[in-house]
Amino acid sequence: MKDASPQTIYLKDYTPFGFRIDEVALTFRLDPSATRVISRIAFRPNPEAQDRRFFLHGEKLKLISASIDGQPVAPDVTDEGLTCEVPDTPFVWEAEVEIDPQANTALEGLYMSNGMYCTQCEAEGFRKITYYPDRPDVLAPFDVRIEGEEKVLLSNGNPGAQGDGFAEWHDPWPKPAYLFALVAGDLVNHPGHFTTRSGKPVELNVWVRPGDENKCAFAMESLIKSMKWDEEVYGREYDLDIFNIVAVDDFNMGAMENKGLNIFNSAAVLANPATSTDMNFERIEAIIAHEYFHNWTGNRITCRDWFQLCLKEGLTVFRDSEFTADMRSAAVKRISDVIALRARQFREDNGPLAHPVRPESFVEINNFYTATVYEKGAELIGMLKTLVGDEGYAKALDLYFERHDGDAATIEDWLAVFEEATGRDLTQFMRWYTDAGTPRLKVTDDYADGTYTLHFEQSTPPTPGQTDKPPRVIPIAVGLLGPNGDEVLETQVLEMTETKQSFSFEGLGAKPVPSVLRGFSAPVIVERETDNAERAFLLAHDTDPFNKWEAGRDLARDGLLAMLRDGAQPDDLYLDAVQAMLRDDSLDPAFRWLALGLPSQDDLAQALYDGGTTPDPQAIWEALETLKHARAEAMQDLAPKLYAQYQVTEPYQPNAEQSGARALANGALGLITRLDGGAQAQAQYDAADNMTQQLAAFSCLLQAGKGDAATQAFYDQWRHDRLVIDKWFSLQVVNAAPEDAADVAERLTGHPDFSMKNPNRFRATLGALAMNAVGFHHASGKGYRVLADWLIKLDPLNPQTTARMCSAFETWRRYDADRQAKIAAELDRILAVEGLSRDTTEMVSRIRG
Ligand code: PHE
Ligand code: ZN
Repeated sequence: MKDASPQTIYLKDYTPFGFRIDEVALTFRLDPSATRVISRIAFRPNPEAQDRRFFLHGEKLKLISASIDGQPVAPDVTDEGLTCEVPDTPFVWEAEVEIDPQANTALEGLYMSNGMYCTQCEAEGFRKITYYPDRPDVLAPFDVRIEGEEKVLLSNGNPGAQGDGFAEWHDPWPKPAYLFALVAGDLVNHPGHFTTRSGKPVELNVWVRPGDENKCAFAMESLIKSMKWDEEVYGREYDLDIFNIVAVDDFNMGAMENKGLNIFNSAAVLANPATSTDMNFERIEAIIAHEYFHNWTGNRITCRDWFQLCLKEGLTVFRDSEFTADMRSAAVKRISDVIALRARQFREDNGPLAHPVRPESFVEINNFYTATVYEKGAELIGMLKTLVGDEGYAKALDLYFERHDGDAATIEDWLAVFEEATGRDLTQFMRWYTDAGTPRLKVTDDYADGTYTLHFEQSTPPTPGQTDKPPRVIPIAVGLLGPNGDEVLETQVLEMTETKQSFSFEGLGAKPVPSVLRGFSAPVIVERETDNAERAFLLAHDTDPFNKWEAGRDLARDGLLAMLRDGAQPDDLYLDAVQAMLRDDSLDPAFRWLALGLPSQDDLAQALYDGGTTPDPQAIWEALETLKHARAEAMQDLAPKLYAQYQVTEPYQPNAEQSGARALANGALGLITRLDGGAQAQAQYDAADNMTQQLAAFSCLLQAGKGDAATQAFYDQWRHDRLVIDKWFSLQVVNAAPEDAADVAERLTGHPDFSMKNPNRFRATLGALAMNAVGFHHASGKGYRVLADWLIKLDPLNPQTTARMCSAFETWRRYDADRQAKIAAELDRILAVEGLSRDTTEMVSRIRG
């Protein structure tokens, strides 16, 4: 039964469940290896369903007893669930099952992490807790009773009776099982308080293991900011008396939005200045907001089925980006989001794992928590907002909340509220949800007699299972600059709906310079023949911060491609332009730090491949090194000045202002280190009193090959702190020399602190190897081998994390025959493993093609 070939599930096969649930009552008798779960579920026939087969999901459960309306029954049980004869009138199902949390290394269902009980049910983990219709369109209020010796016993909703050895919880809001949560442990809380705008008091808590109390304050502040922001910007109030957040060390993902009881990977919630970097703080603020925002976009309105995952995730990512833009710098947030989108989503969209934002089929839903569903899903919301305007968007959202509160909705429902609120026809927009692939947007222009015309042509390359890609509506934000650098046309949104389309602008005194796709108004690849002089001009004059940054990025990329293709020297125009920008004190330091960034090795490999050249990972790394060295020399005077100018002397704050200054100063430290061999970095390391400064210096030392002393000192200082030691593992691998990376990763897997059971630690070691692109793709093939070895070891313990990490191989078709053969051999070796999980089988098969 178990190894029958995995079944593909199709969106078109959706049918509603045959029953509805009026109430769920669960009792947990906790025991590490034999927890009893007693369920009492009131079912009644669903008048909207035809199929009345009574099937309850259930996996790895020991059924102790079952009854219907008090009469014992003997259901038909398989590895996947049970079926049973039931009356055609309302009835009460009762069952008792036994589960083994301690043996649960997949971290799905009820499991143990460092002595505490916790759950993870999205997407399909509740079926490992008890027999249930484990699908998001079955909603019910839950009553939960937990019996256990632990000091803290938590579940969803509002607290009920609590006493010695037990606690009861009542969640009045009907929810699907994937939002269920339970936590039990000897935890301590960091308390807080919020009063909603209608005056309802809410008790807030961040729960952690003893010892982590001093890492909670920032999460609490972020939560309060999020609650306020959602009231002010979206009019959404919190709806329970209590909101709990729990930090868990062993967790597959970032965090989970369980109703009233968010569970977080401890890396995504715990922070203080000594142990966490500015980037950690920013990420934590965003994830706290993301999970909190799910209370409305995800929980109050959930998804009808898992194909609609982007309904909650795309929208919630969009909302958390808006929040970060409001809390910090909007320009910096937009640029960082686009960098991440291109690195992860474009990469996915241009390879064997490409899939629509709303997929049409899957084998294992866990494999679809992807950059496409999340980040591209968020881009689609941004485009909708651009197309209908701020007011239209606000009206549509109000209608969405009003109409669908309490529903399990679809993308059709979502687009319908936009159509009704704004009167627009969004039929063509739907293609963004159904068609995979990144559109290419070719841009040419001409000018005659005061009329300037932009010509656009769109095309989307085929993706697995989809060859035909009709045109989509693309909002193209455009501005025009006059020859002296003044803006002659402010940003206008052109709506492209056809394959080829032209837009004219009249009454111009001279040929303007176009600034196309301002703010990255659509997730497309712009193809435009232009020269470096024009880029330097835009870099200097564009009023749109995204395109200003983009002009600098294009200069850097094209210079690097010329080095790689034609053996050119580093481009002087780029070196001058980046210096001019760094010198410009009117620009936000964080923006300047982003402008100092270079395309990644992976970006360059993709660009070469798209241009018909086989990328050589070693050559790419060397070109980047050459350019970085040339920059360091060109900025020999500027770098120490910037470094001194942007030292933060006030007490540490993880806010945008201080983080920007530190980022720029540490960028300067990188330049300095290339010439001084690490002296300045060592000084900074020795003096550092926060993790941002310490880690930046440590990275510089490792890159300079001078990291031995710091590596030892860092470990001695932080060996007691798991999250900091994750950084220690990861930095050594990420910064290892090309020929050493695989060996360093392999050596670290032998360190006593390495563990396969902790996903953070596993990723810090093996995920870091994939991040060291040149090391991973080392011609010997040892990078591939080490990663495959460990994925094979992890799969039986934790299929979900294994499968996600397989995407390290997704770009393999780009490379030379020798590397392709080596990767193919590793992929085949993984696929040949007996009993390979469904998760990993699906991923590797799709990658292998
Ligand atoms: N729903 C979570 C989020 O994006 C992510 C998640 C998915 C966590 C599946 C765990 C398991 O907020
Ligand atoms: Zn989410």
